[in-house]
Amino acid sequence: MFTILTGAQFGDEGKGKVVDLLAEKYHIIARFQGGDNAGHTVVVGGKTYKLHLIPSGVLLGKRLLIGPGVVLNPRVLMNEIETLRQEGIEVNLGIDPKTTIIMPYHIELDSLREAGRKEKIGTTKRGIGYAYIDKFSREEVQMGDLADPALLDAKLDEIGPAKEKAISDMGGDPSIVRNSPAIAEYLEIGKRLKQHLADVSKEINMALDIDKSVLAEGAQGAFLDVIHGTQKFVTSSFTTAGSACANLGVGPVRVDNVVGVVKAYMTRVGEGPMPTEQLGDIGERLRENGHEFGTTTGRPRRCGWFDALIGRKSVYLNGYTELALTKLDVLTGIDPIKICVGYRLDDDVLDYPPEGTEEFARCVPVYEDAPGWTEEISGARKYTDLPLKARSYVERLEGLLDVSISAVSIGPGREETIYLD
Ligand code: GDP
Ligand code: IMO
Ligand code: MG
Repeated sequence: MFTILTGAQFGDEGKGKVVDLLAEKYHIIARFQGGDNAGHTVVVGGKTYKLHLIPSGVLLGKRLLIGPGVVLNPRVLMNEIETLRQEGIEVNLGIDPKTTIIMPYHIELDSLREAGRKEKIGTTKRGIGYAYIDKFSREEVQMGDLADPALLDAKLDEIGPAKEKAISDMGGDPSIVRNSPAIAEYLEIGKRLKQHLADVSKEINMALDIDKSVLAEGAQGAFLDVIHGTQKFVTSSFTTAGSACANLGVGPVRVDNVVGVVKAYMTRVGEGPMPTEQLGDIGERLRENGHEFGTTTGRPRRCGWFDALIGRKSVYLNGYTELALTKLDVLTGIDPIKICVGYRLDDDVLDYPPEGTEEFARCVPVYEDAPGWTEEISGARKYTDLPLKARSYVERLEGLLDVSISAVSIGPGREETIYLD
């Protein structure tokens, strides 16, 4: 069985929690895009694990793969492995040798460019965009290169001068390209991780051949996709389900399920349009109740009402076969709860987001009210334990997106989950 899981909104939908829940049924969990801009949280037994690169199946001892479409910061990966080890968790990891390495100069370029932008994107400054530029311009350092100092040296001879010039032109210190202390550290890590190198496409396909199950874990969300998201306010990778096939090297006919993770309201971190953003009390309340602060950068997340148009587009972009609805508990005590069911744009009312970012930014939400509930719901364990009004809300979202909701999450813990038939 091959399942792909992606975020349906602007990221931080609760993918980490849902992957941890699903992982039990899978042999392999694979990350296919993004890098340590991602922050996936898993809470087990009251303990919180924040994962940036290691797939969220780690707590169940699963085989974990990092595919060649990921951009990887070796320091972050090593830290994560060490932190987990200190907790007594061993990491059974395979990394594709073609995985792009985020070099110190990518991080420097990301920071310099963001500082110089009049209209900011609000990147995580992890060097993601610049590492992907190098993949596409074929000037990347790959994981396999770190296993051999001579190979890395030769690569830096070839691509270094252009990087030095770019950094100087932006007012930075070009010595970071060749003299960063991180480079020696990278080589050390490369040696240590050599035993983990694996042909990810081959391993996944061979596993599927013998009926093993594989879960592809997406990072970010559909509206941060570099093609289909709100360009330019997006990340630099392909975040929708199809990307899992291309990036992991698995044919599309092998896909069995596509799970969308959907938050019961909206959040966004960084700049860019968000039609249902609430700047007043409601936004503050959602942020407080939902602890909506970035897992990677600690920035406060922008919060607002559920947007069914974003949801609909995400269903199209990903082809979801089922949805996991998260953070329903955060809406407790809010009455009425608003749901965006249309956009007003100039003289029109739309039921689907316009394609252009500039038009999208001018959309004014049309809301319907859903009655709120006051009962605490995190203790519910079956669907009928939920108050009627909470169930009506779930069913309304299911109707608007026209995809069945198979799980409702009502708290960060593993057990705070209700499965639906
Ligand atoms: P991801 O990037 O999609 O994995 O999501 P993040 O981990 O960045 O953000 C989701 C946050 O919400 C984390 O702190 C989770 O522990 C938490 N969370 C997940 N599901 C629920 C839920 O149903 N209710 C509440 N209150 N918190 C949740
Ligand atoms: P997870 O996997 C939410 C956002 C950044 C910024 C934009 C570009 O935890 O859902 P980048 O550093 O990628 O060039 O930044 O994308 N962003 C995320 N927002 N969740 C994420 O990941 C994100 N990864 C990137 O805030 O607006
Ligand atoms: Mg996150």
